[in-house]
Amino acid sequence: MSEFEFDLIVIGSGPGGYVCAIRGAQLGLKVACVEYEETLGGTCLNVGCIPSKALLQSSEYYAHTLHDLAKHGVKVSNPTLDLPTMLKRKDDVVKGLTQGIQGLFKKNKVTWLKGRGSFVTANKIKVTGADGQAKEVTTKNVVIATGSKPIEIPPAKFDRKLIVSSTGALKFESVPNHLIVIGGGVIGLELGSVWMRLGAKVTVIEAMPQILTGMDSDLAKGLMKILEKEGMTFHLGTKLTETKTSKNQVTAICQKPDGSVVEITGDKMLVSVGRKANTEGLGLEQIGLTLEAQGKVPVDHHYRTPVSSVYAIGDVIKGPMLAHKAEDEGVAVAEIIVGQAGHVNYEAIPGVVYTWPEVASVGITEDKAKEQGLNVKIGKFPFLANGRAKALGNTDGFVKIIADQKTDRILGAHILGPNASELIAELAVAVEFSASAEDIARSTHAHPTLAEAIKEAALGVDKRSIHI
Ligand code: NAI
Repeated sequence: MSEFEFDLIVIGSGPGGYVCAIRGAQLGLKVACVEYEETLGGTCLNVGCIPSKALLQSSEYYAHTLHDLAKHGVKVSNPTLDLPTMLKRKDDVVKGLTQGIQGLFKKNKVTWLKGRGSFVTANKIKVTGADGQAKEVTTKNVVIATGSKPIEIPPAKFDRKLIVSSTGALKFESVPNHLIVIGGGVIGLELGSVWMRLGAKVTVIEAMPQILTGMDSDLAKGLMKILEKEGMTFHLGTKLTETKTSKNQVTAICQKPDGSVVEITGDKMLVSVGRKANTEGLGLEQIGLTLEAQGKVPVDHHYRTPVSSVYAIGDVIKGPMLAHKAEDEGVAVAEIIVGQAGHVNYEAIPGVVYTWPEVASVGITEDKAKEQGLNVKIGKFPFLANGRAKALGNTDGFVKIIADQKTDRILGAHILGPNASELIAELAVAVEFSASAEDIARSTHAHPTLAEAIKEAALGVDKRSIHI
């Protein structure tokens, strides 16, 4: 009989935490997961990836019905928006999936400790329930998987009425007349797209000279052009300095790159300027753990913190704040804890922005390749020349593949276009397996498919695309 009640306690049940708990249980560990919310799944399932994708899908149907179906010879008279039904459907999707995790916990015999987890010692966790009752549990190992929360900036504190974070922008009770979005990153563009499709005027204020900072600039520029065509307004290089609110209005006072001031008034403001690691209340001081710059939990290559039985994964540690990165780290750390060789290849983590068209990337960008002085060759193929895209009526965008000049190895791939989120999987596998552009170019791709644009871009690396 072990001196500990559990082999592993995972704090947090987001995609990193719940996956880690299940993998640990599969490997024979006695596992508990601490979560204080009423439902499992963390930000991603409850107020992030999943509800936003549900709304993106519904709003896309609405926009297609309004603007695109007639072109296909489908006439719909007077389509109207039923926002309460749309929001309820989103909630139902979330409910089904969070309950699903509960089922997976049961199946794998993972104990859900309901309450807030904090360290008493490195091997003892206090779990405080909503009623204030606390109990202490002992464990051999702990994985911190407490995720992140929206950054709040002084000029625009969340009032949860006019000025909201992504959570608030998932449940507006009516379509805003004018939604001001602070931050042209992933959240701003996804949720801005939802409300624009449903009829809101949307203005995006972005401090940097391009949207989607860090993504390939061809993609960012291409997407911005398309969103502008659809009616979204952008102020780049523009910083929010102050916000004024009245009963039903919010005014953003911003500084443009030339120093001039612009005032924009709307009825809702979404502040999406990034997220920060969520470590508050964990009692890290109890175990002598100090945070790194930007509040991240320090870990080595094995996700081990300086306290040897305490590990951390996901948004609380360095790296992109992505659900699938956290999931893979969750699997890796559970395997490492049992003595296996868990590993995540950070060169091959795809990133997706679920706008229309979608944006998806894996590996190095052209800008980064230049910065690093790498000798690369680039193949690019537009969806305009792809038969399936033509048939679908979605020809915006392109596939771009960056390969090493000498070895032909694919170093990065970037897609702006229909179903980019699904198409990127082939290229993520290619990067993971160190494939060459030639490998992709010589693989048969079904016809007619959007994926043929990938094959054509791979051919384009050596300037031998067939259809352009
Ligand atoms: P982000 O880091 O993607 O974008 C924030 C943007 O705000 C940046 O472009 C930044 O330059 C700008 N900004 C910062 N301060 C500003 C100011 N005062 N005025 C104007 N602009 C300002 O952050 P976001 O969109 O909040 O997303 C947070 C995290 O969530 C990201 O790490 C993202 O990867 C993740 N996420 C991923 C999704 C996906 O994979 N599809 C979906 C949603 C979120």
